[in-house]
Amino acid sequence: MSVEIFDKVKKVLEDIKSAAPKSKEEVEQFRIRYVGSKNIIKPLFGEIRHIPNELKKEFGQLVNIVKQSAENKFNGLKEAVNAAGENGEAQQIDLSAPGDPIGLGTRHPISITMNRIIDIFARIGFVVAEDREIEDDWHNFTAMNTPADHPARDMQDTFYLMNSTEMLLRTHTSSVQARVMTSQEPPIRIIAPGRVYRNETISARSHCQFHQVEGLYIDENVSFADLKQTLNYFATEMYGADTKIRLRPSYFPFTEPSAEMDVYMGTADDKSKRLTKGTGWLEVLGCGMVDPAVLDNCNIDSKKFTGFAFGIGIERSAMQFYDISDIRLLFENDVRFLNQFKSAF
Ligand code: PHE
Repeated sequence: MSVEIFDKVKKVLEDIKSAAPKSKEEVEQFRIRYVGSKNIIKPLFGEIRHIPNELKKEFGQLVNIVKQSAENKFNGLKEAVNAAGENGEAQQIDLSAPGDPIGLGTRHPISITMNRIIDIFARIGFVVAEDREIEDDWHNFTAMNTPADHPARDMQDTFYLMNSTEMLLRTHTSSVQARVMTSQEPPIRIIAPGRVYRNETISARSHCQFHQVEGLYIDENVSFADLKQTLNYFATEMYGADTKIRLRPSYFPFTEPSAEMDVYMGTADDKSKRLTKGTGWLEVLGCGMVDPAVLDNCNIDSKKFTGFAFGIGIERSAMQFYDISDIRLLFENDVRFLNQFKSAF
């Protein structure tokens, strides 16, 4: 008799362990059978009086284990059912629920500065032309009146692609001039923003990668006066209404005559002093009249057309504008640095 009752209790324990109710209803049935006020475990406690004395303790412990198992299992089932939907299936995703908000990012100070420059020139009819950073020797140098033995190639330490004397990382956005002139007819009026590369030692003031915005205007009767007026307009829009500029004679293989443009910052504060090395003048761009040889190289009639070109360095302007003291900060992508820049551009 006592063996039978032991077996009966063990069977109840097995049933509890193997029960796998899924829906809310099945869980409720489990509750009624094993945990509710009329559960089938309660009467088992009553059976203890039929158990011989020496087995009473063991029997009592067994029934207690059954009771505990039922309660533990039910608590687990309750949680699972609450987490699931009405029919016991995993809750469906509510596609109409509002999504998690995505924080607005900020633009990179280089992009902001480039976009400001593009905007200024777009207002006087320049359109954006973009082209490749991996360039061939012809577009970067030869077309720009800088043949292989030209000493000016030493001015720019070039990164050539591995095992190549032909393919390189462009050293200036002037390569886009060649791309545009060989594919469009004058009048040409483009602005070409982009990244350029030179094999230079990285320091607080110079980097092996930086950005330029190239400008090119080709039409009949374009003169140096047009260039000067255009640059003057740019300087006042970029640096303020009463900005003074100066053009210093310079040399570039692809322009003749050539000049460099400085903007007057003054020496009143430490920042201007530092940026202008005490002179008050900040060098902003290189420019000049497009050398007729460049036009000929690109199959544009140099007897009919003239033009001017300029290349604006972005980093220095951005550093001046945002008071950034080390050029390397612009390329490290530290979000603590980047998060500081907010702009309409
Ligand atoms: N390409 C020149 C540089 O990188 C800048 C420049 C562009 C000069 C166009 C004249 C005309 O220094």
